[in-house]
Amino acid sequence: MGTTISPPQTLVILLLLLLLSEPYFQINGHDFEIEEATIEDVQRAFCDNKLTSRELVDYYLDRIESLNPVLRSVIEINPDAVAEAERADSERRAADNVSRSSLHGIPVLLKDSIATKDKLNTTAGSYALLGASVPRDAGVVERLRNAGAVILGKASMSEWYHFRSPGIPNGWCARSGQGLNPYVKSGDPCGSSSGSAISVAANMAMVSIGTETDGSLICPGDHNSVVALKPTVGLTSRAGVIPLSPRQDTVGPICRTVSEAAHVLDTIVGYDPRDSAATMAAAKYIPSGGYAQFLNKNGLEGKRLGVVRNPFFTVSSRTPVFEAHLRTLREKGATILDNLEIGNIDTVLNPVLCGEAMVLMAEFKVSLNEYLKELITSPVRSLSDVIIFNQNNPVLEKLTEYDQETFIAAEKTDGLGEYEKAILEKLENICLNGFEKLMKEHELDAIVTPGSRACPVFAIGGYPAITVPAGYENDGMPFGICFGGLKGSEPKLIEISYAFEKATKIRRPPSLGGS
Ligand SMILES: *[C@@H]1O[C@H](CO)[C@@H](O)[C@H](O)[C@H]1NC(C)=O
Ligand SMILES: *[C@@H]1O[C@H](CO)[C@@H](O)[C@H](O)[C@H]1NC(C)=O
Repeated sequence: MGTTISPPQTLVILLLLLLLSEPYFQINGHDFEIEEATIEDVQRAFCDNKLTSRELVDYYLDRIESLNPVLRSVIEINPDAVAEAERADSERRAADNVSRSSLHGIPVLLKDSIATKDKLNTTAGSYALLGASVPRDAGVVERLRNAGAVILGKASMSEWYHFRSPGIPNGWCARSGQGLNPYVKSGDPCGSSSGSAISVAANMAMVSIGTETDGSLICPGDHNSVVALKPTVGLTSRAGVIPLSPRQDTVGPICRTVSEAAHVLDTIVGYDPRDSAATMAAAKYIPSGGYAQFLNKNGLEGKRLGVVRNPFFTVSSRTPVFEAHLRTLREKGATILDNLEIGNIDTVLNPVLCGEAMVLMAEFKVSLNEYLKELITSPVRSLSDVIIFNQNNPVLEKLTEYDQETFIAAEKTDGLGEYEKAILEKLENICLNGFEKLMKEHELDAIVTPGSRACPVFAIGGYPAITVPAGYENDGMPFGICFGGLKGSEPKLIEISYAFEKATKIRRPPSLGGS
């Protein structure tokens, strides 16, 4: 007599098949869904043989295939991502199924200005650099690879860090078009790390890396309801990253949770001989035992947080939300020092008045020319070549619609002369007599501000900041809350933001059918 399968058995088999089919995996008797899973969830699933890096990469490649034609947040997929994932899986199996780091086998998406020595291009969103060959991986990429991370691909960005022309919309670049905010399609995705933030928000990557010169991590994090951490300048190497200003540029994580941002930060910080002066100076800030130890849900206890109402707390529909957040911060043990002032704040927030705008142009020309000279092969070797490339390719680079005024102005500068040096001195004094004075006088651990308007305060001084999801407008547009502190205060910022995130749990994934 042959075996017959009774209806109840069929049901059990069907259920089993359902549970085993992607993206669901059985973990400790619970369904495990990759979407919204954290690095910790995934590492546990790896360890329990419930998930492989290959399955994880396949999942994200499917998500990118279905969502990217609309969201345009991924500019290139790494053709070797699957092979890298399989290598991570076999390495883990060989080591008794133990990952060698929290990033081992984790797919990471990199902003298109971070160099990789592989099949991927590194172009800052521009056709001018397509086909160029970089000499080596960027310093942060070397660290990611050593940790066993999988390079999933490159994220789109505001072309050339939004430094080609102020008229170019946030999230637009010639190579991939307009990146969209996944919450409100007509909403501003902000930039310039737009693709890094959109992709993580829409679950097209586990974690991503972006860069900031002034607002480029914090603002897209804020506008796409994800966590973005802007490290102290020099904490992470800028070697192999298309530069804007060595004085302000910094590389940092964009993730769905503070915990993941801390794990990624742990992987990418450290001294790099190719960015020697800055990474050497900042190395003293790296805590022994790393950053993940500061993921403490009681992290707000005893913290002193400054509130600078003028000009950051303008009255709006968000006001009641932020007042409630200040109460939560207090309830969780922080002391709120209210109505503080940053003496010269009007100057700080005006890039022309404080001189930031002028000095960035000189720094951009000098540092970009150095970067381009180091390339093995490249269609362009200088800012002047890029300007000519754009003029010769008006259709590709949409030059009739979007100009290149900032490039042309930057090309007219001539290094860091007396004029620029005077501005640099002025900027330093503005920081010392403004933000630093406030922080020290009131013994603050951080200042807390709504949205991303405080970015210039942290940008011109090289200070760290972090944004955490804080709420949604009636139309679904997200906004964040930002904590910023003195150089090297990442441990405190992680404690504060992690405790806030755990107390409020605001982030929800975008519903991608919508507006
Ligand atoms: C590691 O995982 C594989 C399945 O991927 C399993 O066959 C093997 O027994 C595991 N080894 C250990 C030491 O747990
Ligand atoms: C990089 O650009 C070249 C064009 O020069 C293209 O052929 C190649 O496919 C690109 N790489 C990837 C991974 O898309």
